[in-house]
Amino acid sequence: MKNSNVKIGVMAILCVVIFSCKQEKIADPISDGVHLKSKSQVNALVCTQQTEQTDYTIYKMTSDGYRVGDMAPYYDSGTGKFITYFLKDIWNDATDTRHPMYAFTTDNFHSYTPTGEILGSSSATCAQDNAVGAGSVVKSGSTYYFFYSGRNNNYVTCGSKLEGIVRASSTSLTSAFTKNTSFPTITVPTGQGYDENDNFRDPYVFLDGSTWHMLITARKNVSGTWRGVIVRYTSTDLTNWTHQGVLYDGGSATYFNMECPQMVKMGSTYYLIYSDQQNKYMYYRKSSSLTGPWSLPAGNSRFEGNSFFAGKVATDQFGDSYIFGWTQILSGHTDSGSWIWGGNMVVHKIYQLANGDLAVTIPHTLQANLNTNNYSLLKESQWGNVTNTVPGTESYRIISPASFDVANVIYKPINQQKYKISATVRYASSAKDFGFMIGACDGYNDFYSLRFVPSQNRFSFDKTPHGSITTSTVATNDVPFPMSPNTDYSVEIVVENSMVVVYINNVAALSCRIYKAQATNWGVFSDNSDATFSNISVKYP
Ligand SMILES: *[C@@H]1O[C@H](CO)[C@@H](O)[C@H](O)[C@H]1NC(C)=O
Ligand SMILES: *[C@@H]1O[C@H](CO)[C@@H](O)[C@H](O)[C@H]1NC(C)=O
Ligand SMILES: *[C@@H]1O[C@H](CO)[C@@H](O)[C@H](O)[C@H]1NC(C)=O
Ligand SMILES: *[C@@H]1O[C@H](CO)[C@@H](O)[C@H](O)[C@H]1NC(C)=O
Ligand SMILES: *[C@@H]1O[C@H](CO)[C@@H](O)[C@H](O)[C@H]1NC(C)=O
Ligand SMILES: *[C@@H]1O[C@H](CO)[C@@H](O)[C@H](O)[C@H]1NC(C)=O
Repeated sequence: MKNSNVKIGVMAILCVVIFSCKQEKIADPISDGVHLKSKSQVNALVCTQQTEQTDYTIYKMTSDGYRVGDMAPYYDSGTGKFITYFLKDIWNDATDTRHPMYAFTTDNFHSYTPTGEILGSSSATCAQDNAVGAGSVVKSGSTYYFFYSGRNNNYVTCGSKLEGIVRASSTSLTSAFTKNTSFPTITVPTGQGYDENDNFRDPYVFLDGSTWHMLITARKNVSGTWRGVIVRYTSTDLTNWTHQGVLYDGGSATYFNMECPQMVKMGSTYYLIYSDQQNKYMYYRKSSSLTGPWSLPAGNSRFEGNSFFAGKVATDQFGDSYIFGWTQILSGHTDSGSWIWGGNMVVHKIYQLANGDLAVTIPHTLQANLNTNNYSLLKESQWGNVTNTVPGTESYRIISPASFDVANVIYKPINQQKYKISATVRYASSAKDFGFMIGACDGYNDFYSLRFVPSQNRFSFDKTPHGSITTSTVATNDVPFPMSPNTDYSVEIVVENSMVVVYINNVAALSCRIYKAQATNWGVFSDNSDATFSNISVKYP
């Protein structure tokens, strides 16, 4: 007891001395590492992660605590609701149910109603769907057909294929589908150069004119090179399917697999969307014809990062389209963990730009819900050349004169489980970067950054301590975002537990898993840049 009292006394004296240094430093922004370090000792910032929670309502997972993946959205004009089928991440558990299919329904993207089981994996040793995999639903007449992947790890002893396409049907979108065991399983064509032992999955079925088309993820030896390919089949009756060969082989890119492919038509343009199994980025190509040729986007190569996987689009009766994907968890639910299949569902509104490229923004119903309440921001501190540009608002011009001389405004932790941070961001000049600090342990180095990098025309999420970031640092996750000085960019950051979804100027999004986002210090910063953050505000449902 006595010893600790002495310690507190010594610390108090130290703090007084350091605090006066800090005051002096705010008046004089020319700083050095020693003084910046001292400052962090004065302000005990909160930057430890909270234990991962499962009470998600926006970035949905199951209410009994399971993660989700590989959505298949379907819009039901009868009820005005989206039904989002997904694989429920139960695998090596006692019941060995091997990720069965369930669904959520919604008309607003901030509250969801769960269904019961839609499709269970078969307990029969040699059933093709010994494990259920990704698929899609279409309606013909008054029947809904679910085409899905069947995977059977016992295929060698069963004399069958590891992966095949099977079918189930139902007259209700939200009840269990009946498997049709007399549907002829579609397996990989033989003797044509395909990988005949693995990789034939993720059927996506759609109607174009009076012909049904099915896209399938496969691998093929194309002129001597093994490539991930998207194969197309056609049918007039949903039963007899004819192999039409490779629809797309990646063109100038060679993928291991283009997973969960989808084709959607908007206006007169066909979009082919797929996810790279290896680097986890989702890409798209466009064409004026269903059969290609496929061209790259005119502008940004993608509109999301590597934590929005297997995006699939569905359109409602008002013509609004949405893309449904999922953000993985990390092992141990810690920021240092590794990628693990399954996570939380994320939905963006998706639309066409004038040049025909695709762009995403926050669903308007979710936006309205998040705008319900204003949160009173509490400033923790500021450092460097910081000017409040509009008194009475959280608007700051933050000038950092040299690299690693980070200037900032830091806020106290936000005491809400879900909320949205908004700001309008512009810069006059930037030789390095500026943006948002997440989970700030200090104001100059030890924080995660959501940052604009003008020299590289991208918006980047980095876990690398800021003081170690260079132009060659590999981002944790990023999205292309061309930018120019003296231009306003809107930023909205939706946080729910460890889910952090950033919308940049209503054109690009960056979904991120950040375990230390919740209940920690955060702020805005500028590093060797002259940046202004206006109308910083926080709202919550
Ligand atoms: C199952 O599929 C076969 C072949 O397409 C069809 O003849 C039969 O009517 C289907 N049965 C059900 C219950 O859908
Ligand atoms: C791939 O195809 C080329 C011909 O295009 C052939 O020479 C080669 O043997 C094939 N490789 C495999 C592994 O099948
Ligand atoms: C399936 O469709 C193909 C192409 O239209 C046709 O040639 C074939 O006869 C059909 N098979 C059956 C069993 O209907
Ligand atoms: C939130 O703040 C905005 C302006 O900053 C104001 O227009 C709005 O009425 C406020 N909303 C609530 C619920 O107080
Ligand atoms: C802040 O930066 C501006 C622009 O470079 C400069 O004019 C001003 O003197 C700086 N303020 C301080 C306190 O250094
Ligand atoms: C900040 O908000 C005010 C009030 O809504 C608005 O008039 C102003 O244009 C906003 N500033 C920026 C830079 O967006």
